[in-house]
Amino acid sequence: SATHIPVVCVDGPTASGKGTLAAVVAEKLGYHFLDSGSLYRITGLAATRAGIALEVANQEAIVALLRSLPIRFEGSHILLDGEDVSDAIRTEEAGMNASRVSAFPLVRGALVDFQRNFRQLPGLVADGRDMGTIIFPNAPLKVFLTASATCRAERRYKQLISKGIPAILADLRADLEARDARDSSRPVAPLKPAEDAQLLDNSDLTVDSSVEIVLDWWQSKQPFK
Ligand code: DC
Repeated sequence: SATHIPVVCVDGPTASGKGTLAAVVAEKLGYHFLDSGSLYRITGLAATRAGIALEVANQEAIVALLRSLPIRFEGSHILLDGEDVSDAIRTEEAGMNASRVSAFPLVRGALVDFQRNFRQLPGLVADGRDMGTIIFPNAPLKVFLTASATCRAERRYKQLISKGIPAILADLRADLEARDARDSSRPVAPLKPAEDAQLLDNSDLTVDSSVEIVLDWWQSKQPFK
C-alpha cells in the first residue's frame, strides 16, 4: 500500500472544526482531502431511505446496500448513485444516524479500503474519528482537535442560523454531547487521540491561527524518511 505518501490526520469530536481545518490545510498543501464522516453519513442516509432500521442486527443488510450504491466525490460534492446528497447528509439527524451506523463493526470494516485509497500523491489530509488510530496509523502527523462543548454548540448554532435553519442552542449542545458519548464509548474504533497525536484545543483560536499551527507542525516533520 501507499504508506510512503504523506498524510495528515485530523481527528476530534463533533463540531470541533475538523472539517474546516482539514479542508484549508489540504488546500494550502495542495493535498487531497478525505471527509470520512461523510461516508458514515451517506451510509445512514441510504439505509434510512431503504427502510432499514439502524440497528446492529441489520449491519449485513446495510453493508450489502452500501456495496450496491456507488459513492463518488466531485470536488466538494458527494454523489450517491448519481444523486447529489451533499446537503441531505449535513443535517443534525443525518449526523446522529451516521453516529449510529458508525458503531457497527461490519460497516466500519467495509469502509477501510475505500478510505485508504484516498492516500494518493502528492498527499492527503483526512478528518474523522479514527484516521490516526485505525485508518492511517503510520501517518507522520496526527492532530487531535478539540474545543469546549459550549464553543462547539455555539459554532454549530451560528452555522445553522446563518443558513436560515432554525436551531435551539441547548438542544444542539445536548445532541453533540450524546453523539460524542456514543462515538467515544463504542468498542470498535472509538473516538480517542492516537498515542502519538498532537492535541490542539481551538476554543479560543481563529481558523487561520489553527491552520498556521498545523502547517508549522507539518513543516517540523519534514523531510519524511
Ligand atoms: O465528522 P462527522 O460529524 O461528519 O461524522 C459523523 C459521524 O460519523 C460521527 O458522529 C461518528 C462517525 N464517524 C466515525 O465513526 N469515524 C470517522 N472516521 C468519521 C465519522
